[in-house]
Amino acid sequence: MASIPASFLLLFVSISATAYTIFSATVIEDLANLKPPPNFNATITNNCLHNPSLRYCNSPAMDLHEIFRFTIVASHLCNESKNPNCVETFSEIDLRNRPKIVPLYLSFSFFWKYCPLSIVSIDLSNNSIKGSFPADVLLCTQIQALDLSRNEFSGDVPIQSFSPLSNLTLLNLSFNHFSESKLSDSEFFKRFNSSSFIHSGLLPSRKRFRLNAVILLLCFPIFIVLIVGGFWWCCLQRPDFLPRMCRRHRFTPYMLKAATDEFSKKNLVGKSDGIAIYRGILRDGFKVRIEIYWKNISGENRRKFAEECKVIVQLCHKNLLRVYGWCNDRKLRAIVAEWTEEESNVEIWISGSAPPWKRRLKVLKGVAEGMLYLEEQWPDIGYDLRTSTVLLSNNQEPLISRFKVGDRSNITKRICLFGLFLLEIMTNTKPLEGFEERFVEFIRAHYTGNLQAVIDERMKMTENTFDQAKQTIEIGLMCTEQTRSHQQPSLYEIVNIMTRMLAPQNHKRSSHCEGGRAHRAII
Ligand SMILES: *[C@@H]1O[C@H](CO)[C@@H](O)[C@H](O)[C@H]1NC(C)=O
Ligand SMILES: *[C@@H]1O[C@H](CO)[C@@H](O)[C@H](O)[C@H]1NC(C)=O
Ligand SMILES: *[C@@H]1O[C@H](CO)[C@@H](O)[C@H](O)[C@H]1NC(C)=O
Ligand SMILES: *[C@@H]1O[C@H](CO)[C@@H](O)[C@H](O)[C@H]1NC(C)=O
Ligand SMILES: *[C@@H]1O[C@H](CO)[C@@H](O)[C@H](O)[C@H]1NC(C)=O
Ligand SMILES: *[C@@H]1O[C@H](CO)[C@@H](O)[C@H](O)[C@H]1NC(C)=O
Repeated sequence: MASIPASFLLLFVSISATAYTIFSATVIEDLANLKPPPNFNATITNNCLHNPSLRYCNSPAMDLHEIFRFTIVASHLCNESKNPNCVETFSEIDLRNRPKIVPLYLSFSFFWKYCPLSIVSIDLSNNSIKGSFPADVLLCTQIQALDLSRNEFSGDVPIQSFSPLSNLTLLNLSFNHFSESKLSDSEFFKRFNSSSFIHSGLLPSRKRFRLNAVILLLCFPIFIVLIVGGFWWCCLQRPDFLPRMCRRHRFTPYMLKAATDEFSKKNLVGKSDGIAIYRGILRDGFKVRIEIYWKNISGENRRKFAEECKVIVQLCHKNLLRVYGWCNDRKLRAIVAEWTEEESNVEIWISGSAPPWKRRLKVLKGVAEGMLYLEEQWPDIGYDLRTSTVLLSNNQEPLISRFKVGDRSNITKRICLFGLFLLEIMTNTKPLEGFEERFVEFIRAHYTGNLQAVIDERMKMTENTFDQAKQTIEIGLMCTEQTRSHQQPSLYEIVNIMTRMLAPQNHKRSSHCEGGRAHRAII
């Protein structure tokens, strides 16, 4: 007769005997009013002797009062759970659809601590109980079924605490608000299949997963389209937002518009037939000279323009205007080049600031060096050599500009133009168009007898520099000998002569030297 229910009921009967009115009051009233009977100690000691596995027998110090309270709750709960015969057995806790009393019984932690071993099933479903997982329930480690479905439990489920419940085969946590489990691959989820967790919040819901997948599927292409679109826009409109190596020498109308503040008047520095010159500031703060050609040209010519620009950007010499790139749009063609402060050219410089002899000579030498570089490296590139088109850099270096790719004019013609350029600088006189020959003849006729009358009198000449000036005029005159080209000096010779004139030791030597002799020695 030492079975678990029997032992339990021994206790039960003794209580009933002591307090016959036990089922007439509520559990709260009974807990407050009933006292353990005098022989209570003897009763439970006897129980433990018969069945040592009873939970209260194993608690370290037997608290008789607490054990008595436990028996009161147990007897009420057994009756509430409609067990067929509480005198014989208490096999299930069935509190389905009893939202009013469930929280009360869950609060009796001493009951769960001594959970009767006879209980095999606990059903607390459909009670809308709020709060965290009722962990006390798991102290009934022998149960085979646990139903907590259709409640409003939230927070984590203590998955690890389920491992001692080795007889649990039916678990239902469905329809709750638990937090999604981070251990979704644990043993626990293999033990109970998904029907235990329907809408429990514990497993990632398939619907949400599907929604996420749909969102991802929709968003990813949009994202890609945006990225590609952005990149495309940058490539077409604002390559300056791309790394330098991606844009090379290409400028777009948008870039030029941004650089010149929408082609504002304050950035317009010059204008001549069909060409407008702007000062521009690129995105990285770099100042540039932007030459815009408003003239419409055919597609064929635009292609040619781009080909030419591709060549010109490769030119690299201190006396050539550095070209950074170009814009070749249907509506706008432009060349973007090095910015020179004040935007002055040689013509303005000579007439305006009357530079001394040495400075003029330096400019002439620079131009000759630029021409020599082009002749040696880029014989196909021509240029418009006039005092108005040769610019001055920030450190007073002359810069040849206005290049022409595929120029047919031969070197004789170019040297002749250099001669005219030289004579203009020396005399500060600009011959009218078509009268160049007469201008040269005039100088040829007068310079030997009266050099002073020919050259720009604002140059302060010493005896030494006077000889140099005369010699320079002679070089200029020889350059203009287009018809007898064998008389023309080569660019190489011109650069050499001028380098020697500018060399500091030259002062001393040439002061003892006649101009004529020096001349003969050189040419
Ligand atoms: C015991 O259970 C019966 C039937 O389930 C019920 O009528 C009775 O009121 C219950 N007694 C107590 C004290 O809850
Ligand atoms: C209960 O009885 C046992 C012996 O039967 C005794 O050792 C123990 O002290 C008693 N406990 C109380 C609380 O009276
Ligand atoms: C849950 O309880 C409500 C009343 O609280 C009841 O109407 C409903 O039928 C119950 N559902 C189940 C599945 O027992
Ligand atoms: C599971 O059931 C068996 C047989 O009824 C029992 O021996 C065992 O103690 C139970 N396990 C737990 C954890 O209660
Ligand atoms: C889940 O397990 C129960 C038995 O434990 C079974 O009756 C049911 O068919 C299973 N459901 C699924 C979806 O595997
Ligand atoms: C858990 O409860 C829900 C709702 O009451 C039900 O649909 C489901 O089948 C139950 N699952 C199991 C394993 O009993």
